Amino acid sequence: MSNVAATEKKVLFSDEILQDPYPAYARLHEEGPLHYLAVGSEMAVWSIVSHSEISAIARDPRLSAKRAQKMISILPLDRQPEFRELARLLGLWLIFMDPPEHSRLRKLLNKGFSPAAVEGLRPQVEAIIDRMLKPLRPGSEVDLMEQFANPLPARIILEMLGVPQDMYDAFVAWSRAIAAFRGRPDSTVEQARGAQVALIALTDYFRKTVAERRRNKGTDLISLLIDIEEEGEVLTEEELYAQCVALLFAGHETTRNLIGNGMYTLLKHPLETEELRENPEFIRAAVEELLRFESPVQFTARVLKEDMEICGRRIPKRFSVLCMLGAANRDPKQFEEPNRLNLKRLNNQHLAFSAGPHFCIGNQLARMEGQIAILNLVQRYPGMRLAGPQPKWAPTFGFRGLNSLRVML
Ligand code: HEM
Repeated sequence: MSNVAATEKKVLFSDEILQDPYPAYARLHEEGPLHYLAVGSEMAVWSIVSHSEISAIARDPRLSAKRAQKMISILPLDRQPEFRELARLLGLWLIFMDPPEHSRLRKLLNKGFSPAAVEGLRPQVEAIIDRMLKPLRPGSEVDLMEQFANPLPARIILEMLGVPQDMYDAFVAWSRAIAAFRGRPDSTVEQARGAQVALIALTDYFRKTVAERRRNKGTDLISLLIDIEEEGEVLTEEELYAQCVALLFAGHETTRNLIGNGMYTLLKHPLETEELRENPEFIRAAVEELLRFESPVQFTARVLKEDMEICGRRIPKRFSVLCMLGAANRDPKQFEEPNRLNLKRLNNQHLAFSAGPHFCIGNQLARMEGQIAILNLVQRYPGMRLAGPQPKWAPTFGFRGLNSLRVML
């Protein structure tokens, strides 16, 4: 067995590298497909950067997506008992399940995300975007994250769930607390506490909402899940609340970054943006390239169910591996000129939505939101440029996004 990567720990998850991880990714690609990356000062985790290896791992049943318990094992041993509820509640999310539970729940949820269901939302998405952009006048200076990219996906997922828009501020605060914990492989006790408080509050909210919705059903996602449950499919009450929380989180925390990262990238590439403005029919390909170039989800993880050889290295059962989606999307073995933005890239098989059974259920919704939002911004504001200091990337490595993006419209 070849020793492709030395067990020497390499640093990737630093706040400095986070501002521009791409030179580090390029070095990792030169050195091999698998690396032992430092997590905090003491631990390290095997991490795959190769596109083809991640594609295979994501489909391999010898690896498990059940990792909610593992997430708290990074905390000091004596503090872990405080976070049993955090692990239990996260463990009910579809994304952290294995078959047969995963297959059963995924089949039920797929009904809410069918191509027809997503396409049916198009007029609503267009109307929300129009309403949000109308007050933003060309020539004014705004924070595009605060005024547009943050609230848009949250508004859409709240509408889908049939939740009043006045819950927006509370939901965003809870969602940010979960992202702060989930977005780092080296989360702290404080971040775990914030996530646990948020998850309990969200679960309580949906417990009440589901009870109320049973009395007054509508055409929203929660009513659909209740219908499925009442038709005799197996979905427990707790699973129902957990999927509402997970959808709210996943629908908001990632799509905001597709729009924010996408617009930041376009603003730094004015020639490509001009070409897109003149050829709007390329918006689908352009959004795929923006998903590849600045991927909103930079890594996911799996746990080995048995001893395995991965990229020529024996890794024991119960170890975790990180699948570095953002790095795979810059893999020179998969993409020609991976570090060049090419809005017309052909055969763009990026892994921004992962692969295999956990492939993002919301991918079509996210794509539609991204395409309509970005095209509207590019066409309505031809003079848009960056304003203020250089934007900083938020310290959640897993969820790559900007806290603020000041622009002159
Ligand atoms: C640009 C936006 C988005 C990105 C980049 C993204 C990315 C991802 C990725 C990488 C995964 C799989 C992780 C893994 O393999 O472990 C995933 C799963 C998932 N996503 Fe998304 N997502 C986006 C938008 C959405 C939206 C809008 C929703 C729903 C409203 C959503 C709901 C989900 C759910 C429920 C799963 C779990 C699927 C399963 O385990 O079967 N996502 N997403």
